Amino acid sequence: MASAPLLAQHGEAAALKGRTYFVRTFGCQMNLHDAERVSGLLDSCGCLPVSTPEEADLVVFMTCCVREKADTRLYGQVSSMVSAPEPPCGRRVVAIGGCIAQRDGERIRESMPNVDVVFGTSAIASLPAMAAQAFSADAGGLAVDTIEQGRGFATDLPSRRELSYHAWVPIMTGCNNFCTYCIVPYVRGRERSRGMEDVLSECERLVSDGVREICLLGQNVNSYGRDLYGDTRFAELLRRVGQTGVDRIRFTSSHPKDLSHETILAMAETPAVCDQLHLAVQSGSTRILKAMNRRYGRDDYLSLVDDVRAVMPGIALSTDIIVGFPGEGEQDFEDTLSLVREVGFASAFTFKYSRRAGTPAAGIADDTPESVIDDRYERLADLVQDLSRAHNELSRGRLVEVLVEGRSRKEDMLVGHSTQNQTVHFPCPTDMAWEDLVGKLVCVRVGEVRSWYLRGEMEGEPR
Ligand code: SAH
Ligand code: SF4
Ligand code: F3S
Repeated sequence: MASAPLLAQHGEAAALKGRTYFVRTFGCQMNLHDAERVSGLLDSCGCLPVSTPEEADLVVFMTCCVREKADTRLYGQVSSMVSAPEPPCGRRVVAIGGCIAQRDGERIRESMPNVDVVFGTSAIASLPAMAAQAFSADAGGLAVDTIEQGRGFATDLPSRRELSYHAWVPIMTGCNNFCTYCIVPYVRGRERSRGMEDVLSECERLVSDGVREICLLGQNVNSYGRDLYGDTRFAELLRRVGQTGVDRIRFTSSHPKDLSHETILAMAETPAVCDQLHLAVQSGSTRILKAMNRRYGRDDYLSLVDDVRAVMPGIALSTDIIVGFPGEGEQDFEDTLSLVREVGFASAFTFKYSRRAGTPAAGIADDTPESVIDDRYERLADLVQDLSRAHNELSRGRLVEVLVEGRSRKEDMLVGHSTQNQTVHFPCPTDMAWEDLVGKLVCVRVGEVRSWYLRGEMEGEPR
């Protein structure tokens, strides 16, 4: 682990110095953060980032295979690299990292013959050496590292944060839950927590660098510490991250079966913890939840929501839902709709079930027509949109605190997120430069409400 960056300073750093690179990322926040580590590592070797893959000597894809769509998108993008003109150095190296790399290893070449390097989810530190080798070798060889066992947390790797005011902080990796539809435990391995002092010292450093918002990352943050300390320590971690003086704390993902009352109290009693909780429900049918191996039923989820709301009454709840899990009948789907309505989610990510080879659910026969699943998906999406709108309506006329991210794409407006994770647009006050507001916390009086965003006017001074 520690030897890789050290090596990077000597051997491969010389071979990579001055080469240009481009990283394209698919998938979840974990991959986004891993991509920051890849960039940090390549920067430390003297590589130079460029803004398009065509300009780059080294193109890195950080891949995701959680649903089928992600697989096919990668294939198209890697194939297009074949027809792109060679870079100025005369040789382009294509490296595949992330979850498809971990799943497929050297089989990647069967579908993507122009790939030179495959590095799995625990092998980020190996990338410089493998890329250096690929640049120096005659084209044609394939370097693969998908070793997972025995590697700890790669926290000693440098990281290049994309945003000055926001940081992802991984607290654990892997998953032990084996939901029957999900590929993640097979490509990210078992749960491994990062030491609490290590997490805290990174948070302290980030705060002293000016970071305002920290998002703690893990596939199942609620079981943080179980492997290291014998019991979960997420509540303690939240309180201690709160003591670093950071303005905002978010975390993802939370598994309902592991969200303890102690954690709910720690959220409520730590002012920096945002007024928001993402709690994936997946289905509202106890029968389907059982088939998914989620280890809670509909009523357990609803009473957990009651517990959360008893302590944090106005909290914005969001969720993930899968439509069309094998064997889902109309009544099961109605149960999902009614649960969604009953909870009144502020937002939800909705997915059509995607069969993942190697997972237990992939073997369940299902003859539900695609059109039925499409129809259910639309009905759910309509409900979610109505509920988002209703949730946002509660902010009308109110002041919401916004962390400013920059200018919005379409209009000449600033954009940021409220503590409830709503997207908020507002015009820059005429006596201020928009650049000066990026990374600041401001108050916005909400005037206009939509399902997906709020709009208003800034009031008071930024801080
Ligand atoms: N660890 C996180 C989820 C990671 S995957 C958690 O448990 O909350 C993100 C989401 O993708 C999941 O919550 C699920 O809703 C969806 N998902 C995972 N596998 C899927 C599949 N095979 N088909 C459709 N959606 C899937
Ligand atoms: Fe996948 Fe379930 Fe683990 Fe989340 S908890 S990563 S859905 S297996
Ligand atoms: Fe995708 Fe891997 Fe994340 S499969 S969702 S990038 S853990």
